[in-house]
Amino acid sequence: MPGTPEAEAVIRVRDLAARFDGRTIFEHVTFDVRRGEVFVILGGSGCGKSTLLKHMIGLYAPAEGSIEILGVRMDGLDGAARVALLRRIGVMWQSGALFGSSTLAENIGVPLEEHTDLPAEARDMVARVKLGLVGLADAAGRLPAEISGGMAKRAGIARAMALDPPILFLDEPSAGLDPITSAGLDALIRQLARDLGTTFVVVTHELQSILAIGDRCIMLDKEAKGMIAEGDPRRLRDESRNPVVRAFFRREVLA
Ligand SMILES: Nc1ncnc2c1ncn2[C@@H]1O[C@H](COP(=O)(O)OP(=O)(O)O)[C@@H](O)[C@H]1O
Ligand SMILES: [Mg+2]
Repeated sequence: MPGTPEAEAVIRVRDLAARFDGRTIFEHVTFDVRRGEVFVILGGSGCGKSTLLKHMIGLYAPAEGSIEILGVRMDGLDGAARVALLRRIGVMWQSGALFGSSTLAENIGVPLEEHTDLPAEARDMVARVKLGLVGLADAAGRLPAEISGGMAKRAGIARAMALDPPILFLDEPSAGLDPITSAGLDALIRQLARDLGTTFVVVTHELQSILAIGDRCIMLDKEAKGMIAEGDPRRLRDESRNPVVRAFFRREVLA
């Protein structure tokens, strides 16, 4: 079962430190992401959430520590091994831009064109299946400029799922969305995790999202330069004794 201690760790982060020009963003970050769970990375602006994500997918090399994804150490991978591993994870960035001059189906076909030998009709078919999974079956022929912000996020998720990755990374998926659209996106993430067994690593600082989707979470903190909480977000809300964690979950203003 997702979230239970018996579930296999698909990502292992050990004693990770991130530094830029000698400035420590975070250190001593250690956690597992278990197969099939929705794992949330939370914390205030500038605490290093996106930086952690970039380390996890191998865009940044650790200053210290290690990251293992699906049993493979990210650091020290050669080019071919890195490409093979990156094929197995999907990423939707905060900016998440779609190609403006291509239809949604063509956008989702891009990773298929880059990484597979599928002919154009097969790519189009896969793209339409993925769009169907995110509730955009009727929008395959539309251009990004012709859809809403919420639909663009869904299309970004469909594109990240193009190659059927067992792990999906989403950086602030609900940024810039109104609360209702954001709640719809949360429901979609939960549904995909449940129906497809996809493991999600979601960066967010939206309290409602965290409580709606997170099986487990970690909280980063800028002052502490590292993790200040780990576990079930509902339990953290109700039981944490850390004043910063409590303030975040209860929306208290710290004196
Ligand atoms: N490539 C980089 N070079 C230098 N500093 C960086 C780089 N990436 C991120 N940072 C710094 O790391 C800190 C955390 O950034 P970020 O991970 O984007 O925070 P968050 O996503 O939590 O808002 C910020 O101070 C940011 O300026
Ligand atoms: Mg960020």
